[in-house]
Amino acid sequence: MTDIIDGRAVAEGIRTDLGESIQTLKDEGVTPGLATVLMSDDPASETYVSMKQRDCEEVGINGIHIEIDPEAPAEELYETIDDLNEDPEVHGILVQMPVPDHVDSQQVLRAIDPKKDADGFHPENVGMLVAGHPRFKPCTPHGVQKLLESVDVDPEGKDVVIVGRSNIVGKPLANLLIQKAEGGNATVTVCHSRTDDLAAKTRDADVVVAACGVPELIDGSMLSDGVTVIDVGVNRVDADNEKGYELVGDVDFDSAKEKASAITPVPGGVGPMTRAMLLYNTVKAAGEQAD
Ligand code: GUN
Repeated sequence: MTDIIDGRAVAEGIRTDLGESIQTLKDEGVTPGLATVLMSDDPASETYVSMKQRDCEEVGINGIHIEIDPEAPAEELYETIDDLNEDPEVHGILVQMPVPDHVDSQQVLRAIDPKKDADGFHPENVGMLVAGHPRFKPCTPHGVQKLLESVDVDPEGKDVVIVGRSNIVGKPLANLLIQKAEGGNATVTVCHSRTDDLAAKTRDADVVVAACGVPELIDGSMLSDGVTVIDVGVNRVDADNEKGYELVGDVDFDSAKEKASAITPVPGGVGPMTRAMLLYNTVKAAGEQAD
């Protein structure tokens, strides 16, 4: 029997635990605050940010949302970040990516106070992660670790193949999984669009994490029996339904399920975990700033 990993349920458990930490902070006079900044009119980005704000409301985090006209000069975004850095009621800051082309995304990441960097993307925090002392674990990779834990898959000693080398998922996840720490100690191979014979790599893996943004790239023929499959992909593909599209992952779920001992669905797998770990980082930031 294949275990279909219920990301919504695991995320709910994390939010329940966070509720207790939030109450403790509130009893000390601190309400954790998360600021989201959107400089885009991309409907998917708008949806992601509004879901993050709704999550905040549900768990008792003070959510502050700021929208900046995508045509506005980059300085408007930097000034907004400066104000949020100085605001004592804001403990975490997230600028939804991508930002418009006239804005330098690296400069945006560097502008955020590293102690308020709820995404964990500031170069100081990336450095701390790589050095083995993460301050904020990036949300999606941390969520992947928690999903593996939820099905008792300890990465220690296992061959993990990550398909995708992004700064948001592939690279930080590889760093977390090789660490000498709980949830780490794996042997990690990072594959990408230039990898020769991807199927040979994925067939050798105990755990496959697909995070390349190619709809249904990984199918059952590329997997070994008993593999654990974590699908980070969220791809809109045309569909003959009311919306005109449907969401599919980077894994062909039906054929992969025949091989996997455990697999995440899309939607309802990694997505809810990314959101839960953002709340986690916000509460962590609030606790550290209160100390
Ligand atoms: N855009 C897509 N994923 C992310 C994320 O994890 N954080 C931010 N800030 N923007 C994103």
